[in-house]
Amino acid sequence: MSALGHIVLVGMPGSGKSTVAPLLAARLGREAVDVDTEVERHLQMSAQRAFDELGEQRFRAEERAAMERALGSQRPLVIAGGGGMVAQPGAVEILARHATVVFLDASDAVLLDHLGPAAVDRPLLAGAPADALHHLRVARAHAHGHAQLRVAVDGLCPGDVVERIAGAVSGAVRVATPHPYLVRVAPGLREQVGEHLPVSARRVVLIADQAVAATAEVIATALRGDRVTVTVVSLPGGEQAKQWAVAGHLLERCSDAGLDRDDCIIAVGGGSIGDVAGLVAATYLRGVAWLGVPTTLLAMVDSAVGGKTAVNLRRGKNLAGVFWQPRAVLCDTDVLDTLSDRSFRSAFAEVVKSSMVGGGGLAELVDDRLTAALARDPKALAELVRGCCALKAEVVAGDERESGRRAILNYGHTVGHAVEALTGLGSGLDHGEAVAFGMRVAGELSVAQSGCPPSVIEHQDDLLDACTLTVRPALAAADIVAELGSDKKARAGVPRWVLLRDRGEPVTGIVVEGEAVGAALSEALVR
Ligand SMILES: NC(=O)c1ccc[n+]([C@@H]2O[C@H](COP(=O)([O-])OP(=O)(O)OC[C@H]3O[C@@H](n4cnc5c(N)ncnc54)[C@H](O)[C@@H]3O)[C@@H](O)[C@H]2O)c1
Repeated sequence: MSALGHIVLVGMPGSGKSTVAPLLAARLGREAVDVDTEVERHLQMSAQRAFDELGEQRFRAEERAAMERALGSQRPLVIAGGGGMVAQPGAVEILARHATVVFLDASDAVLLDHLGPAAVDRPLLAGAPADALHHLRVARAHAHGHAQLRVAVDGLCPGDVVERIAGAVSGAVRVATPHPYLVRVAPGLREQVGEHLPVSARRVVLIADQAVAATAEVIATALRGDRVTVTVVSLPGGEQAKQWAVAGHLLERCSDAGLDRDDCIIAVGGGSIGDVAGLVAATYLRGVAWLGVPTTLLAMVDSAVGGKTAVNLRRGKNLAGVFWQPRAVLCDTDVLDTLSDRSFRSAFAEVVKSSMVGGGGLAELVDDRLTAALARDPKALAELVRGCCALKAEVVAGDERESGRRAILNYGHTVGHAVEALTGLGSGLDHGEAVAFGMRVAGELSVAQSGCPPSVIEHQDDLLDACTLTVRPALAAADIVAELGSDKKARAGVPRWVLLRDRGEPVTGIVVEGEAVGAALSEALVR
């Protein structure tokens, strides 16, 4: 099964589901299933007759059964979803488990035009189609709002709709959390943010790093063109943004903007802005939708995916936060052009980390494309971003709240966080540099404690060297050991390590004697 699962088209009658499904299926090399046709075939009668003779309840049950049969297929399909089925209780959850849902959004005028005189023959539109459409739209708004992608079809021919959808899903990564979402990676995505807003959203607060004001402006202009009211709140990025007081200020700005439960927050910036804006989204009105538009490579390969939001406390990083998944993550690779070399390079610590814990195809990809990506080759970069996001998506879907496997992503972070805390947040080694150093220490320990072949760690260190992630903190090993006990993953002051048995074979929850840690640190500090 493809990582995207089935693609289910939902929308109002006349929005083009049945026309677009076979065309999209052909475009993507899939088969198409039309739920309404399946119901008619199963019942051996037209939908209209089934409605009249068997009643709506039976018809919906048949629709649901047909949808479940299609969703059970091992081959990835394009499914034209029965319009009414999606609004039945439980349908949104079933679709979320198995499919990427695309909402074909058409105005009433276009729907009536598409339906033509036959509108009055439709079971739910008989009599006064315009009024009926309005009621149906309201009744189905919840279901349509859960779609991971919205395509505004007014003015588009079916071929254009197909290209829009194919363009959006090709190369996208699906994060299969209970509310699944897409991570898209491509140049120019900042213009397409509107495709992922909740259908109900009329207002947006755009929380943007000042360093990417131009990107924020492009997004705001595109959304205003869709008649969304946009409030841009700019602030300096970096660790200074990850403060409780900043989150409080942003919450007040959301309130001032009149944001309500149907509206949306968009985070435009690096990991720092994503972390604080995500926390604001999670807490404002007890949780509103948010979209991530990461503008640093670190945020694209790591922080934007997975729903961890946080601010720092005096004692350390990320000590106050919640899990709150975004609605979509749009990695527009064009925005990396302005990123400093230091920030760009340091993100490769997370890329190398992902390849060490993920292994397999991602390890091959990183080994193969690292040099080109370091030279900012756009294709190589996009491939690495996608590969890292796919690993993160797979891990997060299996363990959203880090009660198990998700901990593998912390490889290198035990020491990394301690170093960041000791060198002063935002003033010493940056996150990637600290993690790279932490990986060197964890690598030493992996050889000594977990039987990892030394050649694997030599290769890891060569990759980090190639990224010029060679800076060592000006700290004593004993000070770092003392700080490790404060790590938030420590239990009773004893840190739990993520080590490697091999590339792609991480082990978690490992307790290592302080002496062995000190020796590995001393070695890594001078090597
Ligand atoms: N939530 C998670 O799962 C997760 C994972 C990893 C890291 N993080 C967090 O992410 C943060 C680090 O994120 P980061 O590395 O993206 O740094 P950042 O957000 O601090 O940004 C680094 C610098 O780059 C600037 N900047 C951002 N985008 C730019 C662009 N396109 N062009 C020019 N300058 C730009 C910012 O203003 C800032 O000065 C840390 O706080 C870390 O704890 C979170």
